[in-house]
Amino acid sequence: MSTMGSLQLVNAQLVNEGRIVAADVLIRGDRIERIGTGAVPAGTTTIDLKGKHLLPGLIDDQVHCREPGLTHKATLATESLAALCGGVTSFLDMPNTQPPSTDRAALAEKRRIAAATCHVNYGFYLGATNTNLEEIKRVGVADACGIKVFMGASTGNMLVDDQAALEGIFAEARLLIATHCEYSPLILENERRYRERYGENVPIEAHPLIRSEEACYRSSSLAVGLAKKHGARLHILHLTTARELTLFERGPIEGKRITAEVCAHHLWFEQSSYATLGTKIKCNPAIKTAADRDALRAAVVDDRIDVIATDHAPHTLEEKARSYFEAPSGLPLVQHSLLMLLDQHAQGLFTLPKIVEKAAHNPALLFGIAERGFIREGYYADLVAVDLAAVTRVDAAQVRYKCGWSPFEGTDFRGSIVMTVLNGVPVFRDGQPVAGPRAARALEFRAR
Ligand code: DOR
Repeated sequence: MSTMGSLQLVNAQLVNEGRIVAADVLIRGDRIERIGTGAVPAGTTTIDLKGKHLLPGLIDDQVHCREPGLTHKATLATESLAALCGGVTSFLDMPNTQPPSTDRAALAEKRRIAAATCHVNYGFYLGATNTNLEEIKRVGVADACGIKVFMGASTGNMLVDDQAALEGIFAEARLLIATHCEYSPLILENERRYRERYGENVPIEAHPLIRSEEACYRSSSLAVGLAKKHGARLHILHLTTARELTLFERGPIEGKRITAEVCAHHLWFEQSSYATLGTKIKCNPAIKTAADRDALRAAVVDDRIDVIATDHAPHTLEEKARSYFEAPSGLPLVQHSLLMLLDQHAQGLFTLPKIVEKAAHNPALLFGIAERGFIREGYYADLVAVDLAAVTRVDAAQVRYKCGWSPFEGTDFRGSIVMTVLNGVPVFRDGQPVAGPRAARALEFRAR
């Protein structure tokens, strides 16, 4: 039994497991003790959430916190603080750091840093290379959440393009395989053609033509083929095209061996956004057409897409201001993903239970995250209260990322984050992180 006190959240509308119901939540220590009314222990703190909705804290299965090695862009401390301000209570961090996380020693070092500095619950991917199959075979749930395979080159030099290496990974990995799918030879050929035409001044609008639909489809279909051949568990990250959606089946995540993720920016921006945001929204895979974006939204609703995440990928403004080829790909998002989704709820695109399913329940189920991702008695109290009636203006002064910018500065999102509770502790309230000891934990993964 924890020595922490108890906390009662009253009068909220709970969004959980497909339903919205009015219920009180009693939290004792780090766990949800009771959903519903009843006696409360003496000394219980009560917070009235009348008019607010209470969701499980978001679990973002794809972030890049840049630590170790790239800490001029971001750190686990800075980005996790941004996450909790945005209602994200757990994240899974990617291996393209310096050094890259391609063995268990590198993962142990990340866990050491996170245990000392991270503000939300965390897990880490092992990165695959053309040559680390022995390490991939050894890694289990105590070491990593999954194996990240860059089947397309992106930030960091982690491309896995050797067919025999890919066959080995899909045949032997014990953990879920999460892939970045873009076929690099085609991209290199497209880059060459655009360079011939424009020199170094390729317009950013060409990014989705260089990192093309065909490049995405070719790589995604290769990954699906490998997963089917070897019976592997495959999760394709950040889908961007309508065409790739033909590779996935509708239906609940339970029982699926092949799953799909979409990221918040690919659900939001489209081709015309490059005119105003330029290389700020250069990312891999590229933001594509409005028709692609609309198809991704439809696939969230009809359950061909299983998970919504961010691919939070901070770079400094100075880096992002460079020319097309020199500007790094990626944009910071983790503080604003829930706000983006709440606004899309206000636009009539997604119901609240659908948002919770894709951004909290399903990542927990997919990665076997123990006792999180749902509002259930006995589960950890990772929660976020939101106000659908409020509006949040994104103000540069409130952007928490170390890189200090957001593509949403000046945007009004319909909805606001009222409070984040992490392991039973209110860690964000009244627009500010709450001072106090960090409440974050290492996530526990159970074999699925
Ligand atoms: O745009 C991206 N940025 N895509 C990736 O795959 C990597 C990421 C990064 O780490 O910057």
